[in-house]
Parts: sequence; C-alpha cells; structure tokens
Amino acid sequence: MRIYDIIEKKKRSEALSEAEIRYFANGVSNGEIPDYQAAALLMAICLRGMNEEETFLLTAAIAESGEQIDLSAFGEHTADKHSSGGVGDKTTLILAPIAASCGVIMAKMSGRGLGHTGGTVDKLESIPGYRTTLSPEEFCALVKKNGIAVIGQSGNLAPADKKLYALRDVTATIDSIPLIASSIMGKKLAAGSKTIVLDVKYGSGGFMKTPEQATALAETMVRIGKKYGRRVAALITNMDVPLGNAVGNALEIKEAIEILQGGGCPALRTLCLSLAGTIVRLSLGLSEEEAMRRVTEALDSGKAFETFCRWVGGQGGDVSVCKNPDMLPKAPFSLDVKAEKSGYIFRMNAELVGESCVLLGAGRQTKEDVLDLGAGIILHKKAGDTVTKGDCIATLYASDQARLENARSLFLSAVTYAEEPQKMQPLIYKIIT
Ligand code: URA
Repeated sequence: MRIYDIIEKKKRSEALSEAEIRYFANGVSNGEIPDYQAAALLMAICLRGMNEEETFLLTAAIAESGEQIDLSAFGEHTADKHSSGGVGDKTTLILAPIAASCGVIMAKMSGRGLGHTGGTVDKLESIPGYRTTLSPEEFCALVKKNGIAVIGQSGNLAPADKKLYALRDVTATIDSIPLIASSIMGKKLAAGSKTIVLDVKYGSGGFMKTPEQATALAETMVRIGKKYGRRVAALITNMDVPLGNAVGNALEIKEAIEILQGGGCPALRTLCLSLAGTIVRLSLGLSEEEAMRRVTEALDSGKAFETFCRWVGGQGGDVSVCKNPDMLPKAPFSLDVKAEKSGYIFRMNAELVGESCVLLGAGRQTKEDVLDLGAGIILHKKAGDTVTKGDCIATLYASDQARLENARSLFLSAVTYAEEPQKMQPLIYKIIT
C-alpha cells in the first residue's frame, strides 16, 4: 500500500477502505508517513469529505492507535463529558461533582487551553497543590474512593490524533466534520467511559459558527458513539458570548465554587444541571424528570460541593481554598472597562474576549508560555443588559499594567451596542439523543 495512492483516491472523491484508513492512522502515529503526505490527505478529506462508514473507521483507528483505558472494573455507570471548546466554560468543574454525587463514576481526562479557549486542566492547576498527573493505580484508587478524579490526558491516548491535530492546526484543516468528529470521539472511545455527553458549541467562540453546523457535527458524533456501543447524547449550546461571568483560570474556579454553593450566574447553573442531568439519565437509565430531580437535589443540598471538596483534596489540592476562594492566585493589577455608549449590550464576541484573556496572560500565545493563573476578566454586564455610558462593564486582571492596556482595547472591540433590546439566542439550542 502507498500513501500516494490513498491521497490520489481521496482527491478523486472515492471512499477509502478500512485497510487504507488504518494504514494512514498507524503510519501517522508511528512516524512512517511524513507530515507533508499526511497534510495532503487531510486537505483532500477536508475538501472531498468522508462518508459515514469512513468516519466510523477513522474514529476506531484513532482510538486504537494507542493506550485504551479499561474502566470495566467500575461497572456500567462510568461517564465522560466533552465540550468542543469555549470561553468561560467551567462546566466540568460543576457537573462532574454533581453527577458523582448521584452515583455516576466520573473518571475523566481533560485538556489544556487551545487558542482563545480555556482548558479544565489549566483551571484545576490554579488550586494550590492539585495534581493533574497521577499514576494509573492512584487514579483508579481515587475514582474508587470518591467516585471522581480528573487528570490531564495520558501521553499515549490516541497518539494518531495528537499528530493529526497538530498538523490540522497549521494547515487550515480543522473545520471538517469527519475530522473533528473522529478526533473527539477517537479520544473519548479510548478514554473508556460507557456514557459520553457532548457539549457542542456554536457561535463566535466555538469551532462551529452556526447551530446547523453544530447539529451536523453532534449528530455524527452521536452516531459514532452508538456504533461503538456507548450511550451518547449531545447538547447544542451557544458560545457566541462567554459562559458565566468569569474568564481565566483561578477566576473560573471561584465561579464554579459559587455555583456549587448555590449562587452564581443562573444561565451557567442551568447549563450545568442540564449536562449533569443528561449524564445521570443515560448512565443510570432514569427518566428525564427523575434525573433532573436528582441533580438539582445534589446541587441544592450541598452534596455536590462536598464531593468537589473530596475530589480536590484527594488529588492533593488545598481544600481550605474551596471554603475560602479568596485564597486562590490573584493578579496584582486590575482595570475597570467602561461602557462607551448608553443602550443595550448587543454582543460580547466570545472569541475576542478569549483573546483578550490570552493578552492578560491567562492563555498561551506559544506552547511554551507559562500561564498567569490569577489573570482574567470578570464581566459585570452581559449581552442583553442595559448600560449607561461610563458604567463598568468588566474588570480585567493581570500581573503587569501594559497587559491591561493591550487587553482593554481588544476587549472593547468585542462589545457592540444597540439602542433597542434585542432578541437573545437561547443558551441551549437543542438536545440530541
Ligand atoms: N477538539 C478536538 O479534540 N478535536 C478537533 O478536531 C476539534 C476540537
């Protein structure tokens, strides 16, 4: 078999066979296929597409390209959740302890920030002492004890995806449904949970710009999961504006604690309950009403917060921070951003808010950047709110003044105003099961 012929075949829009797809995935992960040929095939797939069977086969080849986590010792109730990336998305920190409090096993691997989007592992590292790398034995022991543990992705999980993703990032081949679906689901299948709930974002801050594109991606991923014997559902949610009021690592931990203590932004609470409710419904085989009743009770009774504290403490995190989040890292300088007009906030472009956060030091501009865990943004006004010129709409936090000034201009470019109230998009567009 020659990779040249496989590229030629896809260039002519023909479907690839299982042997050809496996040859490609294995050749990429063991380094036998050079980057230039892998990139050529990725571009051909991006332009010519893949049918459903090819997408299933590519997903399986990615999942099987490295270590596959065996969670069978934990029984049928293991669950995982994936978000397709966002700004201010701290839902894992909230829904995981809610679902674990209801008896679901959350043995989860999470990612770091990518571009303007944040990552759960970076956020967790702002809790002093929290360890995101554990040996497999320690990870399993903690899952057994607390029903929950969250670590960074193991180095050998889906190595074909690691190489392909890095190539796609620099060859304009990210935005292809078969490539995104096989990348996400390949990793999720390898991570071993029986239930997978997907939060597929659309809007300026997501990979998919419209709800229709997000729905097409979600439907493909749900079909892949079912094909490989998992219980899967997807929520299509709005990422046109940041989620919640905090963007930045320690600031988001603090906001997650607020929600777990019964307060916080109502829209964020609603989304976390819907995601947790879907996990509990699928994992435990309950009706929607019963699942929602259980997750709401777990949150409102404080059980989920207790589970959060046990989870953090189990992984070496300083539990006193959970009770007193003001002990989290804090950036020494801040700057209030004032409304430039009176009226209504029409949009607060999530991508630009995420990029402002990167300028503040909360995200990486190069792979080597060290994050400023206390940096970020607190939003005092959101899209749809009324404002008077000069009102404080956000506070920026950073460790030096120059960063504040740069981020301020970018942040202001994210905000547009309207004279009349505008119809806002709902946070949850639809749920696909
Ligand atoms: N997230 C992934 O893991 N893969 C993609 O292709 C896009 C988002």
